[in-house]
Amino acid sequence: MASSVSISMAVAAWAACVLFCGTSWDIMSMAFAAAASESSSLQLEAKTLRESGWWSRNETSNSSGPCEWYGIACNAGGSVTGIRLAGVNLEAKPKLNFTSLPNLVRLELRGTRLRGSIPAEIGTLSKLTHLDLSYNNLVGEFPLPLTNLTRLVELDISLNEISGFIPKRIENLKNLVKLDLGENNFIGPIPWTLCLLTNLTHLDVSSNPLNGSLPEEIGNLKNLVQLRLSGNNLMGPIPSSLWLLSNLTYLDMSSNQINDFIVGSGVEKLKNLVFLDLRDNMLIGPIPSNIGSLTRLRYLNLRNNKIHGSIPPEIGNMKDLSYLSLEGNRLHSQIPSTIGDLTNLRTLFLDENQITGSIPTEIGNLKKLTHLIFNANNLSGSIPTQLTSCSFLEDLLLSNNSLSGSIPYQIDDLYLLQTIDLRHNYISGKIPLELGSLAFLTLLDLSYNNLTGNIPLSFASVQNINLSYNFLGGQIPDSFRNRSANILVGNKDLCGHDFIGFLPCLSSVPAHNNSSTANKKSVLTKIEVLVPISMSLAFFVLGVFLLFRLIRVKKKGSNSRDDPKNGNMFSIWNYDGHIAYEDIIKATNDFDIRYCIGTGGYGSVYKAELPNSRVVALKKLHHWEAENQAFEESFKNEVKVLTEIRHRHIIKLHGFCLHKQCMFLVYEYMERGSLFCILNNDVEAVELNWSKRVNIIKGISHALSYLHHECIPPIVHRDISSSNVLLNSKLEAFVSDFGTAKLLDPDSSNRTLAVGTYGYVAPDIRLPPPNHRLERDVLLVAKMAFACLRPEPKSRPTMKWVSQGFLSQKKPTAKPLHTVSLWQLRNQDMHDIGESQIQSGNDACG
Ligand SMILES: *[C@@H]1O[C@H](CO)[C@@H](O)[C@H](O)[C@H]1NC(C)=O
Ligand SMILES: *[C@@H]1O[C@H](CO)[C@@H](O)[C@H](O)[C@H]1NC(C)=O
Ligand SMILES: *[C@@H]1O[C@H](CO)[C@@H](O)[C@H](O)[C@H]1NC(C)=O
Ligand SMILES: *[C@@H]1O[C@H](CO)[C@@H](O)[C@H](O)[C@H]1NC(C)=O
Ligand SMILES: *[C@@H]1O[C@H](CO)[C@@H](O)[C@H](O)[C@H]1NC(C)=O
Ligand SMILES: *[C@@H]1O[C@H](CO)[C@@H](O)[C@H](O)[C@H]1NC(C)=O
Ligand SMILES: *[C@@H]1O[C@H](CO)[C@@H](O)[C@H](O)[C@H]1NC(C)=O
Ligand SMILES: *[C@@H]1O[C@H](CO)[C@@H](O)[C@H](O)[C@H]1NC(C)=O
Ligand SMILES: *[C@@H]1O[C@H](CO)[C@@H](O)[C@H](O)[C@H]1NC(C)=O
Ligand SMILES: *[C@@H]1O[C@H](CO)[C@@H](O)[C@H](O)[C@H]1NC(C)=O
Ligand SMILES: *[C@@H]1O[C@H](CO)[C@@H](O)[C@H](O)[C@H]1NC(C)=O
Repeated sequence: MASSVSISMAVAAWAACVLFCGTSWDIMSMAFAAAASESSSLQLEAKTLRESGWWSRNETSNSSGPCEWYGIACNAGGSVTGIRLAGVNLEAKPKLNFTSLPNLVRLELRGTRLRGSIPAEIGTLSKLTHLDLSYNNLVGEFPLPLTNLTRLVELDISLNEISGFIPKRIENLKNLVKLDLGENNFIGPIPWTLCLLTNLTHLDVSSNPLNGSLPEEIGNLKNLVQLRLSGNNLMGPIPSSLWLLSNLTYLDMSSNQINDFIVGSGVEKLKNLVFLDLRDNMLIGPIPSNIGSLTRLRYLNLRNNKIHGSIPPEIGNMKDLSYLSLEGNRLHSQIPSTIGDLTNLRTLFLDENQITGSIPTEIGNLKKLTHLIFNANNLSGSIPTQLTSCSFLEDLLLSNNSLSGSIPYQIDDLYLLQTIDLRHNYISGKIPLELGSLAFLTLLDLSYNNLTGNIPLSFASVQNINLSYNFLGGQIPDSFRNRSANILVGNKDLCGHDFIGFLPCLSSVPAHNNSSTANKKSVLTKIEVLVPISMSLAFFVLGVFLLFRLIRVKKKGSNSRDDPKNGNMFSIWNYDGHIAYEDIIKATNDFDIRYCIGTGGYGSVYKAELPNSRVVALKKLHHWEAENQAFEESFKNEVKVLTEIRHRHIIKLHGFCLHKQCMFLVYEYMERGSLFCILNNDVEAVELNWSKRVNIIKGISHALSYLHHECIPPIVHRDISSSNVLLNSKLEAFVSDFGTAKLLDPDSSNRTLAVGTYGYVAPDIRLPPPNHRLERDVLLVAKMAFACLRPEPKSRPTMKWVSQGFLSQKKPTAKPLHTVSLWQLRNQDMHDIGESQIQSGNDACG
């Protein structure tokens, strides 16, 4: 502690005095004075820190002194130089008196729930180089004393509610390299003096109500690499000096009121640009053809401007482009065929323009495309079959055009399709049966077209479907019985018994007699008879899907579309060294269907009893799946993740074989299958009593906390659902299926991609109410769940907090369960269910 430090200082000073006997008393007394003042300032630092209440009593009572406390850095002399408490909750804690910490160099308090205004005393910390107060609830104006911090290199006060003008005196912060004032309430113009900070590489003033035009002096900031000006009210033209910032890689001026021509602007001079976002402005004129010289661009967004003219063919030069949005402009004439040169394109928005002509066949070259959105244009011609080679396509939106021709039957090659919107066109012909085999399809809108023929039986699983206003006929499939009638209206030849708005069919002969696909259909009908009605619809569709793939694969012979890059056969067995490839083949009779115990989003699961009588589960990709990169990747992903982690509530991987000919994984066997199945089974669901359920939830939360907080880099599963929670014979839970899991870049917390299983709805079988002892556990679980469901991500707890909350003995006050409403649970403050260390962060539960 500080007193012992001061004693040792005094002793040292005295020892020096003895050594230098004969030196003048002046020097000795100076040494004493210095030592004494130093020790008293250290004492003051310790006292200040202790009184702040920012560190727990446990920590501050530790005799080792503040340099040992969490988040504190000291210099060799024991004086505090750094405080980093990012994510710790300092709300309702007393203030820290910064004046007493004169040696602070770094002060980082991101996401600590600080309230009130920025303490002006921070301005006295003349040695400060890094100040991060971002992601708090700070209000008031930018304190002028902060402009005295001339050594500052990084200043981040983003994500607060700071108001007032950006002070002109900010020019004093000459050494600033990064300045982030984004997401505050700064008003007025950007002061030109900001442009004197010539060392800046990163400048962010986005999402404020700043107005006025950009200062002409912006061109002085020659070192700028990232410039973020989005979400303000900046107006007028773009100063031409901006185009001189040749180091810029990232320029975001979206959502302002900039009215300028893009042609002749000079944007093409920013040769290093990777990201350019000018959406939601008032840009006019055509797209300049020399925009094609931005060859490093990966993201280009010009959405919602007033751009007219045609899309220049030179756009094809931007070979790295992965995102292109020209939506909501006044573009006309045709889509240039050079669009097919953008082979890295994943997202293409051209909707709400006046584009004419047909969809170029070169679109088929865009092998990485996931989103193709051409709604509301004047496109004509048919949907090119080449489109069906964009095998990663998820969304295909072509509504409100003048497209004709039929839907290509090869559309089932696009097995990742989730949305197909073709409404308001002139598409004719029959609805291809193959559409029904798209396992991930959730929206299919074919309304207002010229489609004829019957409704395929295979549509049962598509959640949202609309076939209205076509020329469809014949019997309505039974699977439409529970659906709204207005998805079929306007098809006057449809019929069916007990379908409101439709006449019963005259003949009882099923109206399905499409000759070209007759053989497929007879098989289909058999399957329909065989599959028990109680079986989940998803399984049914998957079955049809697999069947069709099989037929198609046979039809095509074995010539595969994908490049046959057979990996080297490699297999690693880390299970007692006792599993051999041959044993697996023997135990399953070469993956005979008899040993198959289930099918998932992809692949089938087999049970294998090995010679040493150990039972394992095998997940195997089907041949045609193994040819597909997406499935293969997710298989490899699973191996990568599972070989690196180990937790008692995460499924164990015993081995794997990754080769085109044998794609399988070996897991420990889970006797009771998935939580989903148990909850769906009336008998088993009752066996899963409250205590078991609570234990399952706790187990999963510990596993997720391990993944999010103990793994380096952190792992997010991204598809936690009851079907991916498996149970062993003791009904203990294990997280499985890491196919979509992601190793997080430690600095990236900004991704909000939705992946995984959509629309999960829990079946709700009732148990008798839990007994008194368990009531508290159930309440705790419900509260945690509500906390994790809060609309604002910032206010959700982390998985670590949830997991620790379950471990702590502190439980909610026991109230009879029937007196507690869900509303109460949701609104109850988190503080009464455990430690109040809710870290604000993006890695919230789930
Ligand atoms: C004090 O901190 C040191 C270093 O972190 C630690 O080893 C020691 O166990 C702590 N003592 C107490 C009483 O917490
Ligand atoms: C903060 O500390 C300084 C000395 O370090 C002292 O003069 C001042 O009164 C303190 N302020 C408060 C509010 O305690
Ligand atoms: C800017 O950066 C340069 C090079 O890193 C450095 O020498 C200089 O001191 C910095 N500050 C100012 C005000 O230029
Ligand atoms: C900019 O905003 C300020 C404060 O809201 C206002 O007083 C000023 O008139 C605005 N200037 C322009 C050009 O709109
Ligand atoms: C779209 O095409 C139709 C017919 O080809 C034409 O009448 C209409 O004016 C076009 N619309 C626009 C906005 O160009
Ligand atoms: C599509 O066309 C229909 C009918 O003309 C119209 O009601 C609808 O607003 C259009 N949608 C869009 C996005 O243009
Ligand atoms: C589509 O049907 C309409 C009648 O609703 C008809 O006028 C039109 O010619 C048909 N178009 C095509 C391309 O079949
Ligand atoms: C329709 O709904 C009823 C009750 O909601 C259900 O019993 C029946 O199985 C459903 N039929 C189909 C074909 O989904
Ligand atoms: C289906 O489309 C028609 C015509 O666009 C519309 O009136 C109807 O509401 C839609 N039905 C559903 C369920 O979306
Ligand atoms: C839950 O079931 C297990 C056996 O499956 C039993 O041992 C336990 O007592 C049950 N708990 C409650 C609260 O009923
Ligand atoms: C997300 O964060 C990472 C790392 O901080 C950064 O490289 C990436 O550009 C960010 N993405 C977006 C869309 O902001």
